[in-house]
Amino acid sequence: MALVKIREILDGKYSDQTVSVRGWVYRKRQGKELIFLVIRDSTGVIQCTVKKANAPTAWAEAEKLTIESSLTLEGTAKPDSRAPGGFEISAEAVSIIGLAEVFPIAKDKSEEFIRDMRHLWLRSRKMNLVMKVRAKVLEYAREYFEKTDFIEVSPPMFISAAVEGGSTLFGLKYFEQDLYLTQSSQLYLEILISSLENVYCIAPSFRAEKSRTIRHLTEYWHMEAEWPFSDMNDLMQFEEGLMEHICKRVYENCQNEFKELGADIAKLSQVTVPFPRITYAEAIDRLKAKNSSLKWGDDLGYEDEKILAEEFGKPFFVYDYPTVIKAFYCRTYRDRPEVALSVDMMVPRVGEISTGGQREEDKDILIQRIKEQGLKPEDYEWYLDLRRYGTVPHAGFGMGVERLLVWMLDLDNIIDAIPFPRTTRRFYP
Ligand code: 4AD
Ligand code: MG
Repeated sequence: MALVKIREILDGKYSDQTVSVRGWVYRKRQGKELIFLVIRDSTGVIQCTVKKANAPTAWAEAEKLTIESSLTLEGTAKPDSRAPGGFEISAEAVSIIGLAEVFPIAKDKSEEFIRDMRHLWLRSRKMNLVMKVRAKVLEYAREYFEKTDFIEVSPPMFISAAVEGGSTLFGLKYFEQDLYLTQSSQLYLEILISSLENVYCIAPSFRAEKSRTIRHLTEYWHMEAEWPFSDMNDLMQFEEGLMEHICKRVYENCQNEFKELGADIAKLSQVTVPFPRITYAEAIDRLKAKNSSLKWGDDLGYEDEKILAEEFGKPFFVYDYPTVIKAFYCRTYRDRPEVALSVDMMVPRVGEISTGGQREEDKDILIQRIKEQGLKPEDYEWYLDLRRYGTVPHAGFGMGVERLLVWMLDLDNIIDAIPFPRTTRRFYP
């Protein structure tokens, strides 16, 4: 008898055959003569029936089963239009592997409680499906990087100087020394372009971010890339190509997951290059036309980005930001030093999902920019060396993996885009 995955049965591969499945009890309903079990494994859920008259030994075992008990169940797989998924197993044998105590989430389903029970909630269909789509998104991103001759690298998480400004920096004691957790691997990717040229990484970034919004985590996964001899146009073209590829591949291969999650997959088929591009100045004008009091030089907030994104209804770019609101490493226009060659990709409902731009390749201007931001050039000696020895124009970007998923899967909150979310208040388990 074949030990099979539930998905294979639902796909009709074992119609009217005897099968064995291993998994956990997802639901149970007991009548006088009949027990309905819904069994789940990693691939799906299937309804199973145990009849007292037909299988007395299986019945005795099934009676003992509790929600989330693990088991092996054998029986005949039959097409049944009344069963969710279209197939049912008529059980002939049931064998308990681990009898579960009373499953806490079965009683209390409040949002707060579910968050406390994250280690158990990850068994839910929702989290199971989100994690699968997440894995696919990473796979398809890597596919695109591979296709475009990028090399995956592994930057450090312990770092000695800030990338994105001190206010969101996590400090830690490293033996006798004060170090930080990285906010972005960008500066390390900049080192590696002089050796490998096109590089990328998918790694954690950390932000001591107090804002409790649906788009902020304190630990998130950051997809970052950097390459030499490139400018803003190359950058936007690459990023939109990457987005188009990921959306297309997810659209082709994750139909079942989106359907079960109730997420709109059609929007992904509308993601095609080229993406709309507007300057920051135009963004401000558009917002002013909608009664915003923003003026040139102000940073765009979450609400502003959402308003802009609503107009487009799909991913788009905002570029040429004021230098004053951008990091020290941003390249500025030589004839307009108040404007930085920096670009954000935005999507509906979430706003910014990536930031990138050209980097300052001139050593003296870079030193001046470091000082202007109240930072110390001596903390960035190795970074300045990159400008001393064979500097090149270069660009790169960083995209938040969880923000991308929030948009794709229509999630209400970023904490559902990652298995073990870290926020100001949550770090358990
Ligand atoms: O805009 P950020 O801060 O840009 C950088 O870190 C650049 N050094 C990246 C680069 O050029 N290599 O962060 C980039 C992206 C944001 O657009 C957002 O998607 C995500 O990282 N991000 C967060 N995601 C979740 N929680 C947070 N607290 C995040 N902060 C940034
Ligand atoms: Mg940003």
